Amino acid sequence: MKQGWFTICENARLARDTFRMVLEGDCSAVGGSGQFVQVSVPGLYLRRPFSVSDRDGDRLVLVYKCVGQGTAALVAMQPGEKLDLVTGLGQGFHVSAAGKRSLLVGGSVGTAPLLLLARELQAAGKAFDVALGFGDIGLAFYVNEFKALGAQVKVATQDGSLGREGLVTDAIRALDGTYDYYYCCGSKPMMRAVCAALPFDGECSMEERMGCGTGICYGCSIPTRSGMRRVCADGPVFRKEELLWEKI
Ligand SMILES: Cc1cc2nc3c(=O)[nH]c(=O)nc-3n(C[C@H](O)[C@H](O)[C@H](O)COP(=O)(O)OP(=O)(O)OC[C@H]3O[C@@H](n4cnc5c(N)ncnc54)[C@H](O)[C@@H]3O)c2cc1C
Ligand code: FES
Repeated sequence: MKQGWFTICENARLARDTFRMVLEGDCSAVGGSGQFVQVSVPGLYLRRPFSVSDRDGDRLVLVYKCVGQGTAALVAMQPGEKLDLVTGLGQGFHVSAAGKRSLLVGGSVGTAPLLLLARELQAAGKAFDVALGFGDIGLAFYVNEFKALGAQVKVATQDGSLGREGLVTDAIRALDGTYDYYYCCGSKPMMRAVCAALPFDGECSMEERMGCGTGICYGCSIPTRSGMRRVCADGPVFRKEELLWEKI
């Protein structure tokens, strides 16, 4: 992991209450998809964790939803301003686990880290399709970005304003393909439903409120089949068979 100052290059609205921030700085510690960064928000004590959504050389992209004090402060920041980031945190997605054709399943802002994962899968010559779930059309993002990578993309919205009416599991059912592995990121209820619905192996990016974000305080621990594991250091990505959904 590495701490350093990053300059905001872009900070623009991507969907309702959802923003895309491009930051430039020393990305040498930024690893693969599913890893996260801890952002120090001016005036707030605890850093806020965000997945790396995309990366291009010394630039990294965060997609964040405005839900509280810290993210509201980020929305107000302008290009040219600087942010203190700790990069290279957590254990990310396992690209090598992908089989013949993988399924990427994103719920709401949980879609963010799947774009970098999709690029990594494509670079590794692994086929994949994408199922996304959003509340409504105004909250949707990255649909065209996944299509541009050649993936079949199906969307479900709760009010039917984009794609199928329903949940992400309905988007999965709308896909025309045979899959042998999945990668999932979204809310706990969504990931629980996806793990229950898909009969093959996969992995999920878990989310817990974080304290240190670096494995020291154990505040983010969750029960797994191999005991209590820290989401920030042992995860956030965990294999399906590790997750004890009945206790999480
Ligand atoms: C590994 C990891 C990766 C994440 N990646 C992203 C991402 O790519 N994009 C994104 O928008 N968000 C992401 N989050 C969630 C993000 O960290 C929180 O939304 C953010 O910290 C909220 O800060 P705040 O000060 O605005 O909210 P606060 O004022 O602290 O809280 C506002 C609300 O958000 C909830 N909240 C705060 N932190 C979390 C959290 N860690 N998990 C779940 N709910 C939380 C609180 O319970 C409360 O209801 C990630 C979280 C983790 C642990
Ligand atoms: S947040 Fe401190 S150990 Fe994970």
